[in-house]
Amino acid sequence: MAFPVGFGWGAATAAYQVEGGWDADGRGPCVWDTFTHQGGERVFENQTGDVACGSYTLWEEDLKCIKQLGLTHYRFSLSWSRLLPDGTTGFINQKGIDYYNKIIDDLLKNGVTPIVAIYHFDLPQALEDLGGWLSEAIVEAFDKYAQFCFSTFGDRVKQWLTINEPNILALLAYDMGIFAPGVPHIGIGGYQAAHNLIKAHARSWHSYDSLFREEQKGFVSLSLFFCWLEPADPNSEIDQEATKRAINFHLDFFAKPIFIDGDYPDVVKSQVASMSKKQGYPSSRLPEFTEEEKKMIKGTADFFAVQYYTTRLVRHQENKKRELGFLQDVEIEFFPNPFWKNVGWIYVVPWGIRKLLKYIKDTYNNPVIYITENGFPQCDPPSLDDTQRWEYFRQTFQELFKAIHVDDVNLQLYCAWSLLDNFEWNNGYSRRFGLFHVDFEDPARPRTPYRSAKEYAKVIRDNGLAG
Ligand code: NOJ
Repeated sequence: MAFPVGFGWGAATAAYQVEGGWDADGRGPCVWDTFTHQGGERVFENQTGDVACGSYTLWEEDLKCIKQLGLTHYRFSLSWSRLLPDGTTGFINQKGIDYYNKIIDDLLKNGVTPIVAIYHFDLPQALEDLGGWLSEAIVEAFDKYAQFCFSTFGDRVKQWLTINEPNILALLAYDMGIFAPGVPHIGIGGYQAAHNLIKAHARSWHSYDSLFREEQKGFVSLSLFFCWLEPADPNSEIDQEATKRAINFHLDFFAKPIFIDGDYPDVVKSQVASMSKKQGYPSSRLPEFTEEEKKMIKGTADFFAVQYYTTRLVRHQENKKRELGFLQDVEIEFFPNPFWKNVGWIYVVPWGIRKLLKYIKDTYNNPVIYITENGFPQCDPPSLDDTQRWEYFRQTFQELFKAIHVDDVNLQLYCAWSLLDNFEWNNGYSRRFGLFHVDFEDPARPRTPYRSAKEYAKVIRDNGLAG
């Protein structure tokens, strides 16, 4: 099963999840520092990312892992508050620049292409104190930070993700309040944050386009999380309709404005407006884009970056009052799959990725697609012989092969989540997504390959699955 020549094989990490060094060398606090230091059992055993994998001082160890795998691409994120401790360019932390320069230069020296996420959930606390993503002022602040990143690293970085999973951030951080900063604003905060996230992304894409593209010749997008969705009863028309609505609310909510026409899907606008009216709000809880904003947002992505982990089932449910993940009249269920040991929210459904890719191809004019995350965790304590996890990856690669060769999807890159076991947000270190095991009890944080890492290295070497 040979993949196209030049296909990208990567692995991903994110700053807060791996770096540690939370207050080293002038790094400012981010919302996850504050959130985890407050305790309160919102994170498994009140764990923090203070030390994490120690990648801030152990980058050389990470590089060894990257080389051992033979990755063509390495995706990582920049810590906003390591570079700009108070979130603004008023004070720039040279030590932060040095750290990322070293990573980028070492990658390039070793023939590995960097893919850089400008922001991955770790907002500087100083900006959160001004309202964070609920405040429109963040749009300008993000744009300035992004411009700083383009001008500092863009001579060498050509593949950029502005914002990681804005759809998850809006929902978990600002609507449900499960993620930092941890304050729920049910039914309102998610929409407000999403609105500002979309505008911030679009503004920074334009900044790249007008100020940097000609010289730097790179590509800018954002990465969207999506669980593929199937009707719970494939023969039920109302379940089929509910599934379409759910896809509109979870994926198209962000993708349609950015890739198609600058505005939210109609069903999203009408449902939120009618729910808001019933609830006695003076206007829809979903803010509206102005005509000027729509023009600004439309067409602001150079490729489609998606992160897939699992597939879920959708059941129509009348009178369900709360909009789960921005949605009413819908119940979302786990995919029953007794043959696999499912972990937490991830049920093993490798074929969902192919359907998702086909949906993106058909809905968004056959874009270049990058899978910027995909993976499956082990619970702690993990086994180095992670046979079932490798089977998840193997079947996923088979599906990708079909997507490329049968469905003619323009998929150009795959990143496994993650290079290393790391701080898995609310689950702390209890869920291990790494291709490399990290011993969090040992101060040296040794990295050891799982079986999946060895098998993935063969896939990369052969540019596909043998046999
Ligand atoms: C998506 C997020 O971007 C990443 O931070 C997280 O660890 C993985 N999914 C697994 O949940």
